[in-house]
Amino acid sequence: MINGSHITLGLESSCDETAVGIVQDGRKILSNVISSQIDIHTRFGGVVPEIASRKHLECVNSVIDLSLKEAGVTMDQVDLIGVTYGPGLVGSLLVGVAAAKAMAFACGKPLVGVNHMQGHIASNYLEYPELEPPFMALVVSGGHTNIVNVVDYNRCETLGSTRDDAAGEAFDKIARVIGLGYPGGPKVDKAARNGDPEAIHFKRVYLEPGSYDFSFSGLKTQALNYLNSERQAGREISVPDVAASFQEAVVDVIADKAVAAAREYGRDRIVMAGGVASNSRLRKVLGERAAEYGIEILKPAPVLCTDNGVMIACSAYYEGKKGNFAGPELDAVPGLEF
Ligand code: KG4
Ligand code: ZN
Repeated sequence: MINGSHITLGLESSCDETAVGIVQDGRKILSNVISSQIDIHTRFGGVVPEIASRKHLECVNSVIDLSLKEAGVTMDQVDLIGVTYGPGLVGSLLVGVAAAKAMAFACGKPLVGVNHMQGHIASNYLEYPELEPPFMALVVSGGHTNIVNVVDYNRCETLGSTRDDAAGEAFDKIARVIGLGYPGGPKVDKAARNGDPEAIHFKRVYLEPGSYDFSFSGLKTQALNYLNSERQAGREISVPDVAASFQEAVVDVIADKAVAAAREYGRDRIVMAGGVASNSRLRKVLGERAAEYGIEILKPAPVLCTDNGVMIACSAYYEGKKGNFAGPELDAVPGLEF
């Protein structure tokens, strides 16, 4: 407690970011320390799970210390510890879960296991301190593409998800084949700004009418076929045009489905979450299409869209309010569902 307010520490280590955030009363960010491993994994063109877990192990204690220091909070003043226990890479998750359990046990603090995807949605409560459920959430990350009907803080219903590649995964793969490297999403976003989104027509995959599911693997194949045929014909490939056309095909489908879901369920707000939510074109197109129906789009700052510890602290705060505490048996669940 600090002056009567509740302090939550959130720890995130599901992929390649070791992150610890401190949040006051579930809504106010006191510190948000993120140690990214991007530079290391860039050399390999993607996240290497063994290296990721070793790096988490090396830096988790110093990230915790730094986050407490930046927040001006001592461990004694922390009321609750939240930790991501899935979904994610098992070795990476295990480091965070073990560290959080050790802290909770050693300092006598309650512990909450947080679903990483629920955490992404919670980043909106930090960006918009007045926001309360219900609303529709679009969760687009490296591992997930979900449309989620958020009924209450602890009650979510997934209306649709990807049947193959996640949106971020599709961005990362296309970036690799057009030579933009890792991490692909931000690089495609940047390259696309100088390209023509109508230069190449990639077919939009909507699946069955009324479905909120996604499929991006066919789009990837279309892009590969296009690149191969252009190369074989000896034509030069415009990286900005491929990036812009590919991005437009992904964004078109995501925006249409998110707006359709909000309309069907009578939601007047769609919150964006996950790394791909920082895509500039998605933010613009979704905003425009939603506005046609009087639907508001909530867009957290990019630093809250990608993996961080404050979103885990916020989600843990609301789980703790419901009494959903974890014991020493808390374990990493790499395939955890919503
Ligand atoms: O949420 P996140 O940080 O980690 C996961 O939980 O997966 O999302 C990472 C994903 C990566 O695939 C990355 O390429 C993508 O988000 N991403 C973007 C952008 N920034 C990050 N994709 C498209 N445009 C962006 N600006
Ligand atoms: Zn994430």
